[in-house]
Amino acid sequence: METSLKTGSQLTFDFTGRVAVVTGAARGVGRSLVQAFARAGAKVVAVDRDAAGLQETLSLSPDGVAAVVSDISQPEGAQATVDAAIAHFGRLDICVNNAAIAPHTSLLEERAEVWDQVYAVNCRGTFLMTQAAARLMIAGGHGGRIVNFSSAASRRGSPGATAYASSRAAVESFTRVAAIELAPHGILVNTVSPGLIDTQPKPLPPMMSETLSQRIPTLPLARPGQPEEVVAAVLFLASDASSYISGSVMMVDGASAVGSRFSEPVVDDDIRYDWVTGHTR
Ligand SMILES: NC(=O)c1ccc[n+]([C@@H]2O[C@H](COP(=O)([O-])OP(=O)(O)OC[C@H]3O[C@@H](n4cnc5c(N)ncnc54)[C@H](O)[C@@H]3O)[C@@H](O)[C@H]2O)c1
Repeated sequence: METSLKTGSQLTFDFTGRVAVVTGAARGVGRSLVQAFARAGAKVVAVDRDAAGLQETLSLSPDGVAAVVSDISQPEGAQATVDAAIAHFGRLDICVNNAAIAPHTSLLEERAEVWDQVYAVNCRGTFLMTQAAARLMIAGGHGGRIVNFSSAASRRGSPGATAYASSRAAVESFTRVAAIELAPHGILVNTVSPGLIDTQPKPLPPMMSETLSQRIPTLPLARPGQPEEVVAAVLFLASDASSYISGSVMMVDGASAVGSRFSEPVVDDDIRYDWVTGHTR
């Protein structure tokens, strides 16, 4: 089965005949992913532990989406999710591990039980889903694609993000190992690493509004990303266009991990040396 790729000013994808699981589908990037895969012809299993949000995603999506209320941080929740792909659509080709939680607090205030929950969802959930999905893909015998999620926060020293940022970095490392172990089965595993994406609740809570109004002007592109800009990277990694890409981290962060808009260039005006000849003046 071919994923046809059309190019113009936009890339579009045709996932007709493919079945995708998307975790964290009740809002934000996950909801946009469900809609995009379904519009591109895929059958989709949309998973979240938030039943009401999931129902809203379903009502806003085209046909061909099945909803599963499930906690992917638990083995039975992950298994129920991939089983739903077989029960509803008979196969599984793509697994997008988008579900995450991101509570922020200072290192000195961090509580061990919150830390553990971050790792349970962000790391164990990604592991459990990858394992359950890969087992089904191997049994299906036609390979597959797994797209995991990190964050640009994993590369900066982001204050308040000890648990979240380190859990996202762990996913990048996990992805590299999974890519090696699953390669013989034709399963490609990659990570997408977003920067600030416009998924926050509206109207913004006052504290968040103040933080963002200070932060956004410092971003290299001086704006947050839109969910669709993350979706485009995921669809690419799930398509035949990325057939030689595995174990990679695709940054979708408008360069926020590599610098700030206001980084001053370092000007070397040391008058003691002639840099061309190497002579001391
Ligand atoms: N939004 C951003 O600025 C941003 C920045 C960097 C990285 N990311 C990453 O992008 C992804 C999507 O971000 P978002 O802002 O859309 O997230 P979000 O918080 O809006 O949505 C996450 C979804 O995951 C679900 N979820 C949480 N725990 C779950 C569990 N145990 N089982 C099932 N579902 C569960 C939540 O109910 C929610 O619907 C995440 O992996 C996040 O780490 C987001």
